[in-house]
Amino acid sequence: MKIVPSFLFFYTLIITLISPSIASTLIQPKALVLPVTKDSATSQYVTLIHQRTPLLPIKLTLDLSGQFLWINCEKGYVSSTYHPAHCTTKQCSITKSKFCRNCFLSKPGCNNNTCNLFPNNIFTHINEIGEVALDVVAIHSTNGLSLGKIVTVKNFLFTCGRTNLLKGLASGVKGMAGFGRSEISVPSLFASAFSLNKKFSICLSSSSGVLFFGDGPFVFLPRIDVSKFLIFTPLIKNPDNSAGPIFHGRLGAEYFIGVKAIRINEKLISLNTSLLSIGDEGEGGTKISTLNPYTIMETSIYNSFVDAFAKELEDVPKAKAIKPFKLCFKLKDLGVTRVGLAVPTIDFMLQNKDVFWRMFGANSMVQVNNKVSCLAFLDGGVEVTTSIVIGGYQLEDNFLQFDLVNSRLGFSSSLLFLQTTCANFNFTSSI
Ligand SMILES: *[C@@H]1O[C@H](CO)[C@@H](O)[C@H](O)[C@H]1NC(C)=O
Ligand SMILES: *[C@@H]1O[C@H](CO)[C@@H](O)[C@H](O)[C@H]1NC(C)=O
Ligand SMILES: *[C@@H]1O[C@H](CO)[C@@H](O)[C@H](O)[C@H]1NC(C)=O
Repeated sequence: MKIVPSFLFFYTLIITLISPSIASTLIQPKALVLPVTKDSATSQYVTLIHQRTPLLPIKLTLDLSGQFLWINCEKGYVSSTYHPAHCTTKQCSITKSKFCRNCFLSKPGCNNNTCNLFPNNIFTHINEIGEVALDVVAIHSTNGLSLGKIVTVKNFLFTCGRTNLLKGLASGVKGMAGFGRSEISVPSLFASAFSLNKKFSICLSSSSGVLFFGDGPFVFLPRIDVSKFLIFTPLIKNPDNSAGPIFHGRLGAEYFIGVKAIRINEKLISLNTSLLSIGDEGEGGTKISTLNPYTIMETSIYNSFVDAFAKELEDVPKAKAIKPFKLCFKLKDLGVTRVGLAVPTIDFMLQNKDVFWRMFGANSMVQVNNKVSCLAFLDGGVEVTTSIVIGGYQLEDNFLQFDLVNSRLGFSSSLLFLQTTCANFNFTSSI
């Protein structure tokens, strides 16, 4: 029953905000879409929203595990529709903020009697207080085939970050878009603003990929609806969010999947399976991260994995390893297939023996110079919190749907098999 009034509330805001000619033909969008490009210098995935009045394009680093959206308000924030979130209002209570602060400059990021959160930058480990605020955000709707009308949320909640919080982020980026499990993550806010089903999808690319909020179809040129090709596995919530949403709550916001074993060329590798389950303090398990450029494994898993992969290629001469990778080959010694270099398949075995996420050369081997390609996985050390962190390179050209209604992940494996890629969404407007 709670959903109905909030939907009406936002709907009214949308109608009052946009011109009557558009409002008269307004239909409730079923899905929304954003572009996402890879920044080559940092390997971060960068999306673009439109915010403020007048609307301004704002680049943001995508953080699958982040709890909320934060944007630099300290420098160059000009908007006639900026509103700080005042303490004890409804907007403050959904953030679960316990920090009410008085700040007297009366400008974005510093207003009296506002609630505050702690945006953090995991690259620099800077974590500091920031004012919660609301402003206009505009985004393209989509029918899943191309771009639809632009729709607007009048009071999109975010947190202000200061300029020093941008250190380590891709050039031109003004903040981070948190897509984690939280009532105030970017997908949660779009879902509640437009009464969408609480689902979002990411399709990352080494060039330009796409993000969706809401339901499919998700059609990529030449007319492939990838939502028809998804395999599902439960999404697992890490129980360790005991420290609350402010400081150590990242664990609770992250998306884990239940990897039970790993196969290389369909042969199980030996590993300590207790590392694959999540312990009482949140340690172990397998999560997905868009901030790690490559998949990281705990040392014992990594060594077993690299040895098994090398054994399957024992007839191929090895090239000198190029850091940070451990196993490299000359390109001339490996064949090429539709799904990348001809190397052993890697299977992350999931809830039963018939469900696995298979990776091919396009996601397992990275070309490091014009002669050499290396196994694109890294040793995380023995002290890692999470045993396997599936990183960006392994996600590229794989369609991933985070279905929070059914608490499951839909994954496509390599779209190259379907003769499409994540760069093939038609970003032409149909209106
Ligand atoms: C700031 O807010 C507090 C709490 O609402 C109020 O008591 C105080 O008068 C305000 N100060 C200014 C300068 O507006
Ligand atoms: C397997 O991993 C668990 C958790 O790190 C550890 O306690 C245990 O000693 C390991 N077992 C072996 C045989 O290495
Ligand atoms: C892309 O979408 C536009 C708008 O719907 C359409 O006119 C165009 O034909 C599409 N392009 C392709 C290659 O299908």
